[in-house]
Amino acid sequence: MSNNRIKFASKLGLIAAAAGSAVGLGNIWRFPSQVADGGGAIFILLYIGCILFFGIPLMMGEFIIGRSGRANASGSFQKLAPGTRWKWVGRLGILTAFLILGFYVVVCAWTMEYILQSATGQLMSLENFAHNFNELRQNSTRQIVWVLAFTLLTAFFILSGVKRGIEQSAKILMPLLFLILIVLGIRSLTLPGASEGLEFLFKPNIKTVKSTIFLDAMGQAFFSLSLGMGAMTTYGSYFRDDSNLRQTAVQVSVLDGLVAVLAGVVIFPAAFALTQLPDTIVSSLVAGGPGLLFITIPELFNQLPLSSLWSTLFFVLLAVAALTSAISLMEVVTSYLHEEFDMLRRNAVTFVAMGIAILGVLASISPTFFDVLDNTTAKVMLPLSGFFISLFIGWYLDRKITFAQLTNDGKLPMSVRFLQSYVFILKYIAPIAIVLIFIYGILF
Ligand code: PHE
Repeated sequence: MSNNRIKFASKLGLIAAAAGSAVGLGNIWRFPSQVADGGGAIFILLYIGCILFFGIPLMMGEFIIGRSGRANASGSFQKLAPGTRWKWVGRLGILTAFLILGFYVVVCAWTMEYILQSATGQLMSLENFAHNFNELRQNSTRQIVWVLAFTLLTAFFILSGVKRGIEQSAKILMPLLFLILIVLGIRSLTLPGASEGLEFLFKPNIKTVKSTIFLDAMGQAFFSLSLGMGAMTTYGSYFRDDSNLRQTAVQVSVLDGLVAVLAGVVIFPAAFALTQLPDTIVSSLVAGGPGLLFITIPELFNQLPLSSLWSTLFFVLLAVAALTSAISLMEVVTSYLHEEFDMLRRNAVTFVAMGIAILGVLASISPTFFDVLDNTTAKVMLPLSGFFISLFIGWYLDRKITFAQLTNDGKLPMSVRFLQSYVFILKYIAPIAIVLIFIYGILF
């Protein structure tokens, strides 16, 4: 199953790279605003359910396809199912990755602006953080400059090679981000009035639930685990023959879920404790929308000594997490153009970066376009692609390949029962659940 493709050098390297892709703005920015929107605890339970029931199996599935195909997201399907239309599943993923980048870079742009504002002490001298965020959202020039800068930065990292750029940065900085979230979580939980936020997070309340909650939770799980857009397939293609796919998928998914919940523990107690509107709390949180993180976090830093320093560090680490995710997204599209159209990697990167810059500029100018990109990718394209990936492994792919990949050609122990249950989940449970959730989300 081997060829000369570049591989991740170390075991930790591949977990770090896959975790670097998964852990990003999806956990720290998107998750809290979806939880606020989805009404709290029930959303979180559904989200965790989605990670367990189709997140982990599908991540293993993408790894299987990538490592046995040893090519980009479309090429891997082509190798495993030559002459069929399955390659379109890969292509759908590649298009999705491109569209996600279009709005992802805008949130990255906000992060960059907040690094600057924190480092210059400007952010912490403000009184109204909501006003500050809204002002940024209306300032197209500032957003566009950062969108372009961030896109260039991502392109630069991609060109400096798969191994060096991604592995090195992720290995050191991710644990640091985790640490700072823990410190922030403790501060948030010890604020007077924090318990209401905790209750919102962990005590199910049927009254706050919306009808689209299933679809929202599923979309969030796909988005956060980087599933359904070829990222994990592409990374799987760089895994070594002795990498343990099952273990890696479980570790990455659990870590990703943990970071998201931790981000919730940071944001909600603080949002409830520091917002002055106890009666309309939920609606005020929802009104936070995509700005929730950028409004609540500075409020929280305001409660700490050396606030500007903390805040700068936090946004720098957030930018790094976002960068490793953006790199994985750009890598999906780049490796496709490079391998399928014989483009030089440099040209492919330039081409992709230009496309992203155009989408990013439009999404900075128009919040509606931003929302359209966000919603169609997370709630339509990712589940659709997840649906086909599970069908591919459940129904099409030779069971021997699945077995060989999950056990590294028989070197790792695995019971027949496990294989059977795994295939059963991807054959029936995941696709049926995805379709039902999808139909329910559209009808209600
Ligand atoms: N999972 C990343 C995040 O949570 C975003 C992402 C989506 C990255 C898709 C790669 C592919 O921020």
